[in-house]
Amino acid sequence: MTKPPGPLPFATGSIIDFPAEASCLQIEGLTLAYGGKPALKGLTLRVPRHRVTAFIGPSGCGKSTLLRALNRLHDLNDEVSHAGRILLEGQDIHAPEVAVDELRRRVGMVFQVPNPFPMSIYENVAFGLRLLGGMRKRQMDDTVEWALNAAALWDEVKDRLRASAWSLSGGQQQRLVIARSLAVRPEVLLLDEPASALDPISTLKVEELIRRLKSQLTLVLVTHNMQQAARVSDYTAFLQHGELVEYAPTDTLFTNPSLKSTENYITGRMA
Ligand SMILES: Nc1ncnc2c1ncn2[C@@H]1O[C@H](COP(=O)(O)OP(=O)(O)O)[C@@H](O)[C@H]1O
Ligand SMILES: [Mg+2]
Repeated sequence: MTKPPGPLPFATGSIIDFPAEASCLQIEGLTLAYGGKPALKGLTLRVPRHRVTAFIGPSGCGKSTLLRALNRLHDLNDEVSHAGRILLEGQDIHAPEVAVDELRRRVGMVFQVPNPFPMSIYENVAFGLRLLGGMRKRQMDDTVEWALNAAALWDEVKDRLRASAWSLSGGQQQRLVIARSLAVRPEVLLLDEPASALDPISTLKVEELIRRLKSQLTLVLVTHNMQQAARVSDYTAFLQHGELVEYAPTDTLFTNPSLKSTENYITGRMA
């Protein structure tokens, strides 16, 4: 008698690849577990430079875990173990010569709930510059203005730079946090559901900003909002249960997914 088949492995759809020269980030066989429980299972993908790449997938599939891994936010969690490699511009981010502070300057991160520091608008943006040191006041002023402009916030705050950051609306606070990240000239900006706590108009402003910023840096966006991924990203990766299921140009993934499970997710038949 033949044995009944075990559970089928998840099918994998088409996975787009980019040449190493066009890739800002290369994730190679990344496995990550919390207390021995796997959250990412052998992910391999490349993130193209100066594009917006979206990670989508059901709650708990590992999107935030992956994003946090990209700037080593798991370092302080003793429960976390990982295998595989992450390369930033060809360099292993876990190599002994990589200083984690410098990695986080190069790879900025924006979270779901805006987290401005309890200080003025100006000081929020200057914060990272002061840590880096060596900047005169004039140059600092110019850089703060540049970053606030880049984050599409300058016109709204230029007359009250000394006001508390907490006096801003939620949408303004999120753009301030983006300005704070941009001030130290990162190469990558990671955004974990950056608009999910914002009202629709603020959301559109943040989306427009993300689209504009790709001329300056590489963006990785986690979102559970399908329309947002479709509006903003150039490429979309669909994750399920810690595995990469499908990765394609956003238009293709949303109009002509290669797998039924991707289609079910993007059409809302799967939570
Ligand atoms: N700090 C943590 N400690 C233990 N388990 C975690 C932690 N963060 C996330 N997980 C688990 O890892 C899996 C992936 O979570 P997460 O990356 O937050 O998913 P997503 O962002 O896609 O919703 C889930 O099973 C979640 O419960
Ligand atoms: Mg998450």
